[in-house]
Amino acid sequence: MDWGMRNRLAQLIQRDGRAMFLPIDHGYFQGPTTRLEEPGKTVAPLLPYVDAIMLTRGILRSCIDPANTKPIILRVSGGTSMARRDELDQEGITTSVKEAIRLNACAVSMSIFVGAPNEHRTLLNLSNLVNECEEYGIPVMAVTAVGAELEKRDARYLALACRIAAELGARVVKTYYCEEGFEKVVRGCPVPIVIAGGPKVDSELEVFSWVYDALQKGAIGVNLGRNIWQHDYPVAMARAIRAIIHEDATPKEALELFEEIKSSGTGK
Ligand code: R5P
Repeated sequence: MDWGMRNRLAQLIQRDGRAMFLPIDHGYFQGPTTRLEEPGKTVAPLLPYVDAIMLTRGILRSCIDPANTKPIILRVSGGTSMARRDELDQEGITTSVKEAIRLNACAVSMSIFVGAPNEHRTLLNLSNLVNECEEYGIPVMAVTAVGAELEKRDARYLALACRIAAELGARVVKTYYCEEGFEKVVRGCPVPIVIAGGPKVDSELEVFSWVYDALQKGAIGVNLGRNIWQHDYPVAMARAIRAIIHEDATPKEALELFEEIKSSGTGK
């Protein structure tokens, strides 16, 4: 592996082998998602606690201070919207590798839709993107997307999608956590896995338990957005999740930390 690739990966995956990515790319198909109407304001208090942020070039340019940021994972796929929910798998590549280099991206990310009508197209998108990015030492993070079909997220499906992403050359795979059989998803995927959070849930402990269990089963961290920044105490959520990832906190310890930060008045 060349120095540039190793350096970029080292900026994303920390010395302890773990990673905490914060995605704020949801607007690329959802529009002004709740609590992400002004992405710059949402992300500013959270930046100190994350290892990288994932977003599109438009939000990067217009909302993120170039002098005060973390490594960038640039989403380079899109072209669909929630207005046509049945066609979410029709993504193409929206952003060139030249643009990613100009924006000093540390990695690029794109979605694949295994099992969807446009599976073939999205898998070739991934392959072509890897071909080009490898030339410049830029890691590709594949996102195993399910569109509106959230019920697809079982171990058999996730293992299939993650393995295919790795086979086609992704350096990191972002997938979903599943309670049953997540270790099989990790075992079948020879590159690091991070988990998304999905739609916001009501219980902090539930989120901490997913993250903890995923790490015990071999994930290296998270690419988790809504369960942090849609929470009333986003800083407390980010710091508690960071403690699980980088300080081996248990879900119970993370909850105690969350409550402590919340009651100190610094959790927002
Ligand atoms: C999907 O819109 C994006 O690719 C997100 O980056 C991904 O789903 C992770 O975010 P969340 O934890 O909110 O699901």
